[in-house]
Amino acid sequence: MSAPSSPEGAASERPAARPLGVAAIGYAFMGKAHSQAWRNVGAYFDVPAVAQRVLVGRDAEAAAEAAARYGWAESATDWREVIARDDVDIVDICAPGWLHAEIAIAALEAGKHVLVEKPLSNTLPESEAMVAAAKSARERGIQSMVGFNYRRVPALAYARQLIADGRLGSVREVRASYLQDWLADPASPMTWRLRKETAGSGALGDIASHAIDQVQYLLSDTVSEASGRLHTFVTRRPGRDGAEEEVTVDDAAWGTLVLSGGAIASVEASRVALGRKNSLRIEVYGSEGSLAFDLERLNELDFLDASGPAAEQGFRRIVVTEPEHPYIGAWWPQGHVIGWEHTFTHQIRDFLLAVRDGTAPSPSFEDGLQVQRVLAAIEESAAAKSASVQL
Ligand SMILES: NC(=O)c1ccc[n+]([C@@H]2O[C@H](COP(=O)([O-])OP(=O)(O)OC[C@H]3O[C@@H](n4cnc5c(N)ncnc54)[C@H](O)[C@@H]3O)[C@@H](O)[C@H]2O)c1
Repeated sequence: MSAPSSPEGAASERPAARPLGVAAIGYAFMGKAHSQAWRNVGAYFDVPAVAQRVLVGRDAEAAAEAAARYGWAESATDWREVIARDDVDIVDICAPGWLHAEIAIAALEAGKHVLVEKPLSNTLPESEAMVAAAKSARERGIQSMVGFNYRRVPALAYARQLIADGRLGSVREVRASYLQDWLADPASPMTWRLRKETAGSGALGDIASHAIDQVQYLLSDTVSEASGRLHTFVTRRPGRDGAEEEVTVDDAAWGTLVLSGGAIASVEASRVALGRKNSLRIEVYGSEGSLAFDLERLNELDFLDASGPAAEQGFRRIVVTEPEHPYIGAWWPQGHVIGWEHTFTHQIRDFLLAVRDGTAPSPSFEDGLQVQRVLAAIEESAAAKSASVQL
């Protein structure tokens, strides 16, 4: 294990023999998923040793209980004190979006490598400030990454390779939909995810962000133009004290995206699509082949190769569990399928290797900002109710 190449900053002063100390901020949904990955990454991948030093949350008792359960040495309630610690080299931000910019910038300035959950932040100015902090930290050997974990689904990483290898010819169209139904019931209560000041946006930032990142990732391209529509079907919901509160974000979002290379993508996201629990589906259509992916069958990729005789054409199912498929070699024999949680282990594996090698991990904060720009363009177009917005 080698220390980062930085001449300055706390991370570079870490004695080579000491494991990288990790602090995670947030112990709920993503805190739990990331904790599992920190706990098992070293058992499956050849990465620098890590120590799960401290898990941070607002409620001392609940944070202590989560820390004990998820394998952290300690818990704390003040993230500022934690990022100042000399035995913390990596800060993993699993808190809501309104806290991302403040924590990430402070951690980078304190010389800590930063992994932050998506979306990068809630606003464009915050995201721009995060990119500036990341650039300056990178010059000191301090790395940063945003957690679009679906890039680490082996089938999607393999799909990207097929597209890059030209197996689809020239990509013409992409359909990406991310549908959930946990807000379908109008009696579902208010949470931070339903208030603009805490969530930034609704289905748009929460899950369309994943779909947009996938479109850009799969095609190795960037969106240059977008139009969109947002809608809130349930405009008032019960608040904590029982009184109704106004919902200030979208329940569902639609976007039409033009990519720099000429492909067109449609993106649809909803948190009220009854019956769809966590349905991320992506289809890519090229001049010589097509691909289809469904998160509910995440070990599979449907591939159509149009180069053969027309009479024999059709989608064929690739079971993405061969040792040569991305990430799979570390896990089980062929056909012994993996799950959603493995994407977080893969994400942390890639992050740790970048830290070890002193290289910039991907997706970078710049990639996260690019997704934010697309989200902002969809919002602007939706507000104007017609115009397509150049990025
Ligand atoms: N990659 C994915 O698939 C995925 C899935 C869900 C959520 N997310 C993202 O993860 C982030 C967190 O979402 P979540 O679902 O885990 O939210 P959550 O509400 O389940 O958990 C938020 C956590 O943040 C903690 N927190 C809040 N304020 C804090 C503060 N001031 N100091 C310390 N801790 C604080 C809370 O105690 C809680 O533990 C969001 O950015 C969200 O968009 C990503």
